[in-house]
Amino acid sequence: MSPDPKTRAPKPPRIVAIANQKGGVGKTTTTINLAAALAIAGERVLLIDLDPQGNASTGLGLAASARGIGAYALLAGDATPDDLVHPTEIPGLSLIPATDDLIGADLEFAAAPQRERLIAQTIGAPAFAGLFDYVFIDCPPGLGLLTLNALVAASLVLVPLQCEFFALEGITQMTRTIDLVRRSHNPRLVMGGIVLTMLDRRNNFSVAVVNDVRDHFKSLVFETTIPRNIRITEAPSHGKPILLYDIRSPGAQAYVALAAEFLRRERADRQGAVTHHD
Ligand SMILES: Nc1ncnc2c1ncn2[C@@H]1O[C@H](COP(=O)(O)OP(=O)(O)OP(=O)(O)O)[C@@H](O)[C@H]1O
Ligand SMILES: [Mg+2]
Repeated sequence: MSPDPKTRAPKPPRIVAIANQKGGVGKTTTTINLAAALAIAGERVLLIDLDPQGNASTGLGLAASARGIGAYALLAGDATPDDLVHPTEIPGLSLIPATDDLIGADLEFAAAPQRERLIAQTIGAPAFAGLFDYVFIDCPPGLGLLTLNALVAASLVLVPLQCEFFALEGITQMTRTIDLVRRSHNPRLVMGGIVLTMLDRRNNFSVAVVNDVRDHFKSLVFETTIPRNIRITEAPSHGKPILLYDIRSPGAQAYVALAAEFLRRERADRQGAVTHHD
């Protein structure tokens, strides 16, 4: 990404939340592998693991004992990037891991002033500017304070959707939540798109769900779909993104294609914004 010639101030990163209140739909898998594919494509990417389960941290090979203070400090607001950011095996991909103290964060910060803005304030601070092109936040399932903080900090939200029965109901609930957060806390928040995950093309029902979701949400749905692929399931237990674990697998190829489509959409969005403001 080229620096803005008009200003010498470091550019703040673009913050992307990966969220769906439903559990097990591919949020963490999509965060890890999209972030990894973008880093390999040359973007400077930070992944924040905001899920107390810590699956993204484990999936990137960072053992619980090596995590230091972790993402909790983003809420407490008492740490600098130097204290928090870990490198990963992929140059250009950094990680702020989840630690056990995140488990109680919902309750602990329930009465904090501006409790929904804690993360936005920390990563919006000058200390975080200029370091990364993208910050991806892996949200926990549910719509608690952690997810709300991610949606308030983000300018874009991506929603992974598993191709199964009830998919449409889940996504309708999620789009309502995004609208609500936009109206009440974060007018910049844009629904960046729906990523269809765990698609089994041999299953007619799964294909019917894809068609339904596309009929309903049109171009909001990424053209790239992520197939159900055993190699994707195996990769986290080796502490690797699928791109390092088995680049030739259909899962890895799908995430490379998703990253390319994501960057195309980003470019179109920037051009649209320029035209719009001119
Ligand atoms: N494309 C895929 N093919 C096969 N298995 C997959 C695929 N995507 C995800 N999985 C598996 O499905 C399970 C759920 O995925 P994942 O952890 O990414 O979902 P999640 O939405 O982050 O879950 P949670 O809500 O618990 O955080 C994991 O075991 C993961 O390995
Ligand atoms: Mg997860």
